[in-house]
Amino acid sequence: MGNDHTFDPAAAESLEEIVRYRYLSRDELVGALAPASDDAMLDLGSGTGFYTRDVAPFVDSVHAVDLQPEMHDHFRSTGIPENVDIVTAGVDDMPFDDATFDAAYTTMTFHEFDTDEALSEIWRVLRPGARFVVVDWSQDGQGERGPPVHARVGPETAVAEIERAGFEVEHYRGRPETFFVTAIRSA
Ligand SMILES: C[S@@+](CC[C@H](N)C(=O)[O-])C[C@H]1O[C@@H](n2cnc3c(N)ncnc32)[C@H](O)[C@@H]1O
Repeated sequence: MGNDHTFDPAAAESLEEIVRYRYLSRDELVGALAPASDDAMLDLGSGTGFYTRDVAPFVDSVHAVDLQPEMHDHFRSTGIPENVDIVTAGVDDMPFDDATFDAAYTTMTFHEFDTDEALSEIWRVLRPGARFVVVDWSQDGQGERGPPVHARVGPETAVAEIERAGFEVEHYRGRPETFFVTAIRSA
């Protein structure tokens, strides 16, 4: 839980490679979020905005949270959609009021921030009933791309951590190289 593996901004361009859709497509992510057009969405560990750009057309607004300003610089260089606000903050201490967001997601980043503090903070800023979608590299994978296997968590660990923070897990599944969790923020 909460290891020291933070993504190296020097490798930011790899986050823009289209081959990433082999592991998570736009339609898969948006389908799991099932967003409404007036939703306020939260992207946790948004990086270069690869998936932020995919989700933004389907919602009212996206707040893209990332700890590293260099990652936001990469996002700016490719153009930030009008309804996206970038926020430099750690997931464990976000500058938002309680119950601000209708949904949140995090892609290929959960293993970088999965502390009890961060998950409690995500619970705090989501509205009761809000959906939380987590997709990340799995410890059960082969390490063909992404972080080394030892730096990852597995789906069962992720589910236990997410439930401990007060979310109800709707479903989860392991895949060859990644895992997928959808959860609901309890009342
Ligand atoms: C592997 S990249 C993935 C970026 C993006 N989610 C994607 O799929 O393209 C992980 C990102 O999470 C950010 N990050 C890591 N730990 C974080 C934390 N505790 N709070 C906010 N952002 C964090 C890193 O700076 C990096 O930009």
